[in-house]
Amino acid sequence: MPAKIITFVTMKGGSGKSTSAMCLGAYWHKQGAKVALIDADPAGTLVRWIEAGEDLADLAAATAGPGTVEKQIDAFLKDGFETIIIDTPGFQSEATDAAIRRADLLLIPMRPSPIDYQVAADTAEHVARLSSAPVRFVLSQTTRGSVIARHMRAQMEDAGLQPMNVEFPARVAYGEAALAGTTPSYYQPRGAAAAEIAQFAAETDRLLSRRRAKAGKASETV
Ligand SMILES: Nc1ncnc2c1ncn2[C@@H]1O[C@H](COP(=O)(O)OP(=O)(O)O)[C@@H](O)[C@H]1O
Ligand SMILES: [Mg+2]
Repeated sequence: MPAKIITFVTMKGGSGKSTSAMCLGAYWHKQGAKVALIDADPAGTLVRWIEAGEDLADLAAATAGPGTVEKQIDAFLKDGFETIIIDTPGFQSEATDAAIRRADLLLIPMRPSPIDYQVAADTAEHVARLSSAPVRFVLSQTTRGSVIARHMRAQMEDAGLQPMNVEFPARVAYGEAALAGTTPSYYQPRGAAAAEIAQFAAETDRLLSRRRAKAGKASETV
């Protein structure tokens, strides 16, 4: 099985990139998957998050910057990691572009607001110039029952942009888990946040296996 690389990207800070990247990585790690994280944000959010507690102590993670993202990807591939998750900063950078180019799946988290939507759509345009990998939007920090998230979904679909089915409502569990250096999958495994993360992982897996099947078919015809 070829390894898969998932890059979280958007030029807007506070969208939920680091949270969704960490929760996905920790979920797969807990399942026993060979997953590694690359923190390409100079803020070092993921690495600090892991260091804040015990649960994620043996989850492979490395920081990388301009010029080193690709080397770090190759090092993890060489070490046999099957999934690599890359978190990027909330601004355009060489490191972000490298992470976009190498991705098999690009995920753009966004909060449900018109301002966030605009930046997310601009990010999708930038991504499309660098990569032909599938791109999905992930609604984050939504309010249950509100009209705005539904409105955002409709707007995306009109623009030909694809939101994932899963959505991350605003929940204190995310911040509390981060404070303890862990994620809801460990912290409150029976809670609603853990269930969303499991759904997110399953949907991500489906997107990656679809891409793999396509790649397989393409190589058969060569
Ligand atoms: N679903 C959520 N519910 C509540 N708080 C969240 C959720 N997702 C993210 N946050 C919080 O929002 C802030 C920004 O999220 P973060 O993942 O750091 O965004 P980014 O990496 O895109 O800047 C953080 O304080 C994080 O704890
Ligand atoms: Mg971040």
